[in-house]
Amino acid sequence: MISKKLQLSVLLCLFLLQGVHAQKMIGNETPEQKEKRMEWWTQDRFGMFIHWGLYAQPARHEWVKSYEGLSNEQYQKYFDEFNPDHFEPKKWAKQAKAAGMKYAVLTTKHHEGFCLFDSKFTDYKATNTGAKRDLVKEYVDAFRAEGIKVGFYYSLLDWHHPDYTMDENHPLTKKDKSDAAYARLNKGRDMAKYRQYMRNQITELLTKYGKIDILWLDFSFPKPNGRGKGKDDWASVELLKMIRKLQPGIIVDNRLDLDEYKDGADFVTPEQVGTAELAKYKGKTWETCQTFSGSWGYYRDENTWKTHKQLLDLLITSVSNGGNLILNVGPTARGEFDHRATSALDSLSQWMHANDKSIYNCTYAPDSYRVPQNTKLTYNPKTKRLYVHLYEYPADGKLILPGYNNKIKYAQFLNDSSELIYKPSGGDDLVVSLPVKKPGFTIPVVELVLQ
Ligand code: GLC
Repeated sequence: MISKKLQLSVLLCLFLLQGVHAQKMIGNETPEQKEKRMEWWTQDRFGMFIHWGLYAQPARHEWVKSYEGLSNEQYQKYFDEFNPDHFEPKKWAKQAKAAGMKYAVLTTKHHEGFCLFDSKFTDYKATNTGAKRDLVKEYVDAFRAEGIKVGFYYSLLDWHHPDYTMDENHPLTKKDKSDAAYARLNKGRDMAKYRQYMRNQITELLTKYGKIDILWLDFSFPKPNGRGKGKDDWASVELLKMIRKLQPGIIVDNRLDLDEYKDGADFVTPEQVGTAELAKYKGKTWETCQTFSGSWGYYRDENTWKTHKQLLDLLITSVSNGGNLILNVGPTARGEFDHRATSALDSLSQWMHANDKSIYNCTYAPDSYRVPQNTKLTYNPKTKRLYVHLYEYPADGKLILPGYNNKIKYAQFLNDSSELIYKPSGGDDLVVSLPVKKPGFTIPVVELVLQ
């Protein structure tokens, strides 16, 4: 039997340890400074992810090298063939801007190891392919010219580098998972050299392209059996310190495996989750990353493309829970957005042109406003306007605002600023009269000016 006293001191120790844990810091930024640094990002809400690399050619998932266990030699044909003759990032930037996306993040290197930029530290890069130029530079210039904030995705994993050691995701471990195979394949590999390579490349990315707004590092998968990778493999603490030194204003995602530090990440990244799940992130700083269809890289035969309504729902639900949405496009190997992506972006453009005030600078509504039936709310705390997104247009032309009597002073459609007449229902509710004919938007928005 453990004595009561001992039990109590163990509990006390655990409590204190937890306290220390939560306080652990890498830098010394105050919460106020962080809020200021993140301000534009929290207000902009909507970004474009771009996954582009050699995997656009097999066109069957950006993980194809791992899924099919391909060696560097087997994958070489994609490098030899790479020649994106339709690459015009100015077009990408215009499409992103029209869709209302305020920032973009491009894969400068994905897990396959191929670099879209002209790195001094490898030959495995765009300049040595048919493209013959630094594609990252052109992306940066084009997006900046459109006033879109510029971000880089950089893969921590690297399935091409000769020093990158084996783990459960590595293509070469696909066929044989025995310890003997690991030992054989790891022979001559030196993770310390790979770490240096990564630091060198991230330094290039953060020093040669001007101000970089976001760095999206991907990803960690620590495993108790040693067949994963995490903070020690990447030397994450040192890496993050270096990043912050090179670009003090930069915003960094949470995939370096630094959860034990209060400032080990700027935002969390729920990936491909359904809208119902997003409510659980309310109160955190977060961005959900989502694809138009099932894969990040261009996937010719993937046909589960999200509908316009599903895409809008993702955007509205993100904002209504105080988060961001980054929506991914996987350009083709010729360097352009295919027709499915283009038409999805076009419909978003139409909606955003008319309704973007319910997205930018908005967040969740104060608790005192109940959510009317079949709607989702967003709220702009500065202008004190509440946005009611009509998921189902009321057949009887009546929108009931539960408990809103004496809480609003004006109502209008957001898309055309046309007045909507409302009156008390007798009790605490208000009834807004809507035209019988639904405005030409999949999800129309009612704007309420609060008292
Ligand atoms: C995952 C995948 C990757 C994709 C990323 C985007 O971690 O490995 O292919 O780039 O998510 O969030």
